Amino acid sequence: MGHATFELFSIMMLSMVSSNLGCNYTRIAVLPSDLFLEYTTVDGATYALTSNNTFQSEEYFRLVHNNGVMGYMPTNICNFPNIIKIDLSYNRIRYVGNISCLVNLEELYLTQNSLTTIDNKTFSQLKKLLFLDISVNKIKHLDPFALAASNLNIQYLNASYNQLTSLDITNIIMSGPFCERDFSHNTIKNLTNVLDILLNVNVTYGPGMVYMSNNPFEKWPDFRKLGVQNLTMLGTLLEFGFDFRGCNISCDCDMEPFLELAEEVIKKIWRDYFEVECSRPPNLEGKLIPDLVKNKSLDLFVCTKDVEEGCPVECICVEQPSKSRFLVDCKGKDLSEWPRYLPNTSFVYELNMCDNKITILDPRYYLEKVSVLNAANNSFQRIEDQTIERLNNVKNLSLSYNTIYYLPKNIQYLPSQSIDLRNVVLFCDCDTFWVSDWLDVRHISSDSIFCNTEHHGRIEAIHLKDLLSHECQKLDLTSTIICIALATAIILFGLPSFLIYNFKYELMILFRRQDPSICEYDYDIYLSLDEENDTVCVWIRQVLLPYLQNFGYRIYLPLRDCLPGKIAEEEARDILRKTRCFLVILSESYLQQDGRPRTEIEWKYAWDMYFKDRHRKIVMINFDFLPTKLVQQRQIKAFVRVGKALDFGNRDGNHLDNVQRAIGSCKKRSTYDKNRKSLFNIRMLKPRNKVTFELQNSMP
Ligand SMILES: *[C@@H]1O[C@H](CO)[C@@H](O)[C@H](O)[C@H]1NC(C)=O
Ligand SMILES: *[C@@H]1O[C@H](CO)[C@@H](O)[C@H](O)[C@H]1NC(C)=O
Ligand SMILES: *[C@@H]1O[C@H](CO)[C@@H](O)[C@H](O)[C@H]1NC(C)=O
Ligand SMILES: *[C@@H]1O[C@H](CO)[C@@H](O)[C@H](O)[C@H]1NC(C)=O
Ligand SMILES: *[C@@H]1O[C@H](CO)[C@@H](O)[C@H](O)[C@H]1NC(C)=O
Ligand SMILES: *[C@@H]1O[C@H](CO)[C@@H](O)[C@H](O)[C@H]1NC(C)=O
Ligand SMILES: *[C@@H]1O[C@H](CO)[C@@H](O)[C@H](O)[C@H]1NC(C)=O
Ligand SMILES: *[C@@H]1O[C@H](CO)[C@@H](O)[C@H](O)[C@H]1NC(C)=O
Ligand SMILES: *[C@@H]1O[C@H](CO)[C@@H](O)[C@H](O)[C@H]1NC(C)=O
Ligand SMILES: *[C@@H]1O[C@H](CO)[C@@H](O)[C@H](O)[C@H]1NC(C)=O
Ligand SMILES: *[C@@H]1O[C@H](CO)[C@@H](O)[C@H](O)[C@H]1NC(C)=O
Ligand SMILES: *[C@@H]1O[C@H](CO)[C@@H](O)[C@H](O)[C@H]1NC(C)=O
Repeated sequence: MGHATFELFSIMMLSMVSSNLGCNYTRIAVLPSDLFLEYTTVDGATYALTSNNTFQSEEYFRLVHNNGVMGYMPTNICNFPNIIKIDLSYNRIRYVGNISCLVNLEELYLTQNSLTTIDNKTFSQLKKLLFLDISVNKIKHLDPFALAASNLNIQYLNASYNQLTSLDITNIIMSGPFCERDFSHNTIKNLTNVLDILLNVNVTYGPGMVYMSNNPFEKWPDFRKLGVQNLTMLGTLLEFGFDFRGCNISCDCDMEPFLELAEEVIKKIWRDYFEVECSRPPNLEGKLIPDLVKNKSLDLFVCTKDVEEGCPVECICVEQPSKSRFLVDCKGKDLSEWPRYLPNTSFVYELNMCDNKITILDPRYYLEKVSVLNAANNSFQRIEDQTIERLNNVKNLSLSYNTIYYLPKNIQYLPSQSIDLRNVVLFCDCDTFWVSDWLDVRHISSDSIFCNTEHHGRIEAIHLKDLLSHECQKLDLTSTIICIALATAIILFGLPSFLIYNFKYELMILFRRQDPSICEYDYDIYLSLDEENDTVCVWIRQVLLPYLQNFGYRIYLPLRDCLPGKIAEEEARDILRKTRCFLVILSESYLQQDGRPRTEIEWKYAWDMYFKDRHRKIVMINFDFLPTKLVQQRQIKAFVRVGKALDFGNRDGNHLDNVQRAIGSCKKRSTYDKNRKSLFNIRMLKPRNKVTFELQNSMP
């Protein structure tokens, strides 16, 4: 009987290949020989035989034995790896056993037996298995990946009429097309994802048909927990038809996100969509789901959370995905404090706490996720600053009908669209002066916001400013005075330090006292220039030096006069110590001091000595007519800025006079510095014209 059914079924299946259900397989086109069975024990062990006890290795077989008393698969079944079909329906088989050897098996029919469990090794090696019927058994347990895996290609699966209580997603879905998977008439309450698999977005699962009918499902499966990361992908990911008829599915918050998907997706996945009606909750019982969707009644798809799920005993907690909110209603429950916990949710809370006896608005952790808070008609005495801080996502806030002694100032900064303060009584003094401004600016209806004041009794908050402005003015005056005092202090102390910080060198130059030059130095002039700048060199050789020599100055020119073997730095320091005037030829190349440490060192010592010894001079010739902003070095910049540099932009002969005047001549030491007199006398004996004599011959 069963045999005949499945022969017929096979033919049906073949014709389905072209239908859009899926079904993708080809079979070995041979006529198999029959195997026969011999019972060996009373508990149903058997032995398989061929008709004449011999067979060729390439021969294909089939084993059909229905309505027997077999307790096991034939013990020698692995002697026949070429079996392509086994039909042992209507027996008493309790274990499938190890049939990994049957690598050519295409059809396995075990309906109406006594199987209790299928683990994920049972069929794992049967790569050619296309038809598997384990319906009407006592299967309670299925391992994940027991009936669908990467190397399995079971096109037709019948696991109906068993005792499964849950079903793992890994046994339902198959990548690529398949014909049918029947899990109907079990006791499946929910679908699981025990291995937490994620569906691969690059793989199409199905198409195919899955029968889930007549299972006592309590909840619509939450596909997001079943490996579908993004519900909007569901339609492309699963090309399944699910049959959920007779499952008494509850029309609740778990189904709502699914119903929000495009209707084509729902129709594709849910084949009998048009016939399904809600069986729960009572207000939706018997209503057809497509009608509810068309009537835009998704707001009715809610879940009520109970105490076990974290809802406070006195309250009603309702999750409403269509509005992305979680309602907590604790209205009029005589509560004297805020609930400590609320159920976890991915949505925002809307809290109704009105008509209670709460005195303190505690800063509970969940306030950060509250978008609507109705706390009207309580007995607030205090609202904590922290509470208002946590309410930074609140859109609607009602504190009406409360006597609030202390309203935190930071309530002004709440981003709320609406704040209801009708019939609120505050305690007001100069510290709450801000309230009237706030009411004004935020356009909060201020009609009936009252203030209890010390001297004026209860007044309307809007009049607070008029009444208290006189009393609070003193305070204002004091603060104004403080402000002015502070500003003055800043000007007095801040400005100088600002100036000193930014114009330190300018100030040093401007306030430096120059004493008359004295003739106790070995050199009159230390010439600092960029010796690689040809223009400068030519000008110095042809113009400046001859001119200065006329005045008999003793001039030191580093490159020329530097004694061989001496380190530049020491040399510069030694000579500068013995020089009266530091003459800088400021050119663009002079300032590019990278790789020109010499001029930098010269500057360092010259500057240092210039400020230690008021007899010394620095004369700067701005050879390239450089503007201040091009000068980076702060000391040189300061020189240019205070106008101490001699501009040489046009290189006109007249300027040489200025240079000479700036260098000036030295005076013999006068009496004001008696301590150094003897030294001075010795120095005076030195020959004067030695250096200048050599100058012209050795310039580049
Ligand atoms: C045994 O039977 C098979 C067919 O089942 C046949 O092909 C084979 O030749 C037979 N062998 C002998 C020895 O008769
Ligand atoms: C099943 O039998 C095969 C040999 O046919 C063996 O390699 C394998 O380990 C067995 N599997 C189990 C789970 O015993
Ligand atoms: C087989 O099932 C067990 C649970 O019974 C599971 O831990 C294991 O990962 C599964 N193996 C495969 C290959 O899926
Ligand atoms: C699965 O098997 C049951 C009982 O054997 C049968 O009633 C049902 O039609 C089968 N399902 C399919 C899809 O063939
Ligand atoms: C059909 O199955 C074969 C192998 O069984 C596979 O190579 C092919 O991709 C499948 N076709 C589709 C459309 O999945
Ligand atoms: C399935 O139901 C069981 C028992 O009701 C429950 O423990 C389990 O968490 C549920 N699994 C899912 C994925 O809902
Ligand atoms: C899917 O394919 C894209 C590109 O083809 C690849 O970047 C991505 O990693 C793949 N995702 C998975 C889960 O394999
Ligand atoms: C669905 O509910 C109906 C009536 O309440 C009941 O007769 C039927 O057995 C339930 N179905 C399942 C699968 O629990
Ligand atoms: C889900 O997918 C849709 C379209 O593919 C995309 O617009 C949306 O941003 C995705 N959502 C998430 C949370 O990834
Ligand atoms: C849908 O709305 C129509 C009228 O607006 C009403 O007659 C019908 O009962 C509603 N259907 C459901 C399922 O609520
Ligand atoms: C809510 O989540 C927190 C951590 O995120 C966890 O500690 C707590 O147990 C959860 N509460 C409930 C009722 O699930
Ligand atoms: C405030 O609550 C009390 C009961 O606690 C109630 O009698 C009264 O009507 C409520 N007032 C308003 C304005 O809601």
